[in-house]
Amino acid sequence: MGTPARSGAPVSLTIDGFEVTVPEGTSVMRAAAEAGIQVPKLCASDNMEAFGSCRLCLVEIDGRRGTPASCTTPVAEGMVVHTQNEKLRRMRKGVMELYISDHPLDCLTCAANGDCELQDMAGAVGLRDVRYKAPENGGLANHFAQRDGAGPNANYIPKDESNPYFTYDPSKCIVCSRCVRACEEVQGTFALTIEGRGFDSRVSAGAATDDFLTSDCVSCGACVQACPTATLQEKSVIELGTPERSVITTCAYCGVGCSFKAE
Ligand code: FES
Repeated sequence: MGTPARSGAPVSLTIDGFEVTVPEGTSVMRAAAEAGIQVPKLCASDNMEAFGSCRLCLVEIDGRRGTPASCTTPVAEGMVVHTQNEKLRRMRKGVMELYISDHPLDCLTCAANGDCELQDMAGAVGLRDVRYKAPENGGLANHFAQRDGAGPNANYIPKDESNPYFTYDPSKCIVCSRCVRACEEVQGTFALTIEGRGFDSRVSAGAATDDFLTSDCVSCGACVQACPTATLQEKSVIELGTPERSVITTCAYCGVGCSFKAE
C-alpha cells in the first residue's frame, strides 16, 4: 500500500461514489482504504514502499487511459476512481488464474492453509477454476526438470532448510518481492535479491550458491512475516501448525529493530 503520506495539502477525490480527502502524495489504494474500500492486492504492504508488480490492484480513473495500479498511483484533486466493475473483476480473476496455474495445489496440507494471502485473494476475486494445467509438483521450473528427467539443473531450486528458524520453498513463491523489500526497507540488511526473468525469476539469498544460512541473512524474520504464501515459513508453524493467536513485538535491545512473533 506504500508508506502513508502524513503531511501535504488535502486532496479530495471520489472512489466508487464515496468522497474522500487525504494528504497529497497518498496512493489511490490507501485513499480507498480510508473510505473503507479494500482493493485486492498481493505485493503491497502497509509498512513498505509500493512496488506495483502483482497487478491485482488495477483501477479505472475517469479521463485516464488504461487501468493503473492503485498502489503506485498518487491521488489528484477531483479524481474519480472506480475499483469495482466487470472489466476489473475479469482482469483480476485472470491475473489470479495465472498465479495459481504455477502454484502447488496442496492447500489442505500446506502449513499456511487458512493464513495465506494468495488463497484469500483467489477467494476474493471469485476464482473457482483455473483454465491452465497446473504443474505436477509446483513451479514450472520444477515441473520441467521432472518432466525432462533432468534432475537438479540451472532452473531447479530445491527447498532451502538451512536456516534453523524458517524454510524457503521456491515452488510456492509468487515473486512479489515483499521479502526482498522487507529485508531492505524494514531491516536494512540487503541479504535477498531477485534473480532471473519470467518463469525463471526467483528470490535468492545473495550469490546463486548461497543458502540462507551462509548468506548475509541475520534471521530477523522480517522476510517471513512479509511473505504472503508459505514460501518463507517458520519451522515452528510447519511442525506445530498455525497458532490460534499471535503477538508481534519489536526488540529494542540493539536498535536494529528485529520483530518477533510470540505464539
Ligand atoms: Fe498494486 Fe500489487 S498491490 S500492483
